[in-house]
Parts: sequence; structure tokens; C-alpha cells
Amino acid sequence: VVAPARNAAALGARTLLVTNAAGGISPGLDPGTILLLDDHLNLMGRNPLVGPATEGELRFPDMSAPYDPAFQELAEEVAAEMALPLPRGVYSAVLGPCYETPAEVRFLRTLGADAVGMSTVPEVITARARGMRVLGFSLITNRAAGLGTGLETTVLNHQEVLEMGQAAGDKLRELVSTILTRLPE
Ligand code: HPA
Repeated sequence: VVAPARNAAALGARTLLVTNAAGGISPGLDPGTILLLDDHLNLMGRNPLVGPATEGELRFPDMSAPYDPAFQELAEEVAAEMALPLPRGVYSAVLGPCYETPAEVRFLRTLGADAVGMSTVPEVITARARGMRVLGFSLITNRAAGLGTGLETTVLNHQEVLEMGQAAGDKLRELVSTILTRLPE
């Protein structure tokens, strides 16, 4: 999973921009919302840096600002120009591949998670260990388990996640491509 981040760094990339699909936990994080990653919870039970230190990677990387504050501001500036709401939030990464139970989602909410997904955190950890600056977005594709509208029992399925990815992809594409034109050299 982290090979692309390692290889990009080895080729000289200094910035990693990550996107993912996630379930919305906080109120207002409804399907279609784009979330600006502000921090994360690594609940995957594993860490890509375990094992002998890889050349070019810090053994004990600082994670006090995993997502670059200047890039976050740039993202907010571009989103404002697009009149796109871009809330910030904490992404919690679980191993999966099953979706969460409602009790697990309540647990994640208590921990401070705004959204939940099954990816991204290993890449971000690796990028930070290599000194790369990171910017990340979640596309909220569904309300997390147990948090449906209340009108029906929500059943999560991958098809719904893919469909929301298709439906909201253009917004995310415009946001990302405009940001790319404004990143520093
Ligand atoms: N949980 C975990 N991963 C996800 C979800 C979810 O609800 N939606 C999209 N990826």
C-alpha cells in the first residue's frame, strides 16, 4: 500500500495529495460532502514503519501536523472560490474490509472521529516519515453504520460508495486540479 508513496518520494516528489471514500460520522457530513483532512486516528492496528528503518525515512517521525497547514489554507481558498463547503475533520482509519457496526461507529465518535474509512493513513505516515507535505480529502459517500436518516435501516454496500464517487467526482476533480496549479514549486 505504501509503495507508491515511497516510490514517489524516491523520484523527488515533495507533496502527497490523498483522497478517499469515507463514511460520515459527525452531523452534517452527509453523502456528497468533501471533508478536508485535519488529523487522523490510526486504528488499523498496524504501522507501515514497523521493521528496520528504510533509508530516507525517519525512525520516529513527528505526527503533530500530519496535514500541512499551508496546504489546508490553500484548499479552503480554492473551495471558497468554487462556493464549495469544505469542512475540516478527523479521519479515522480502520483495517476493514467489513464496514463498521453501529457500536463501533459510536465508539469512533467518542474518540473524536468525524469520518471513517479503510485507507490513507499508512500512506500519510510513510509520506511524513519521508518529509513530504501532505494534503488530504475524504469524499463522504454514506452515513456511517447506524447513522441513517432515521427513515430506514441503512445497509452499507460498496455499490453505493462507488455511485457517490461517480456523482461527486467532478467537484473533487475541480478542487484538486485547481489546487495543483497553485502548489509551490
Ligand atoms: N466505513 C468505512 N469505509 C468506508 C465507508 C464506511 O462507512 N464508506 C466508504 N468507505
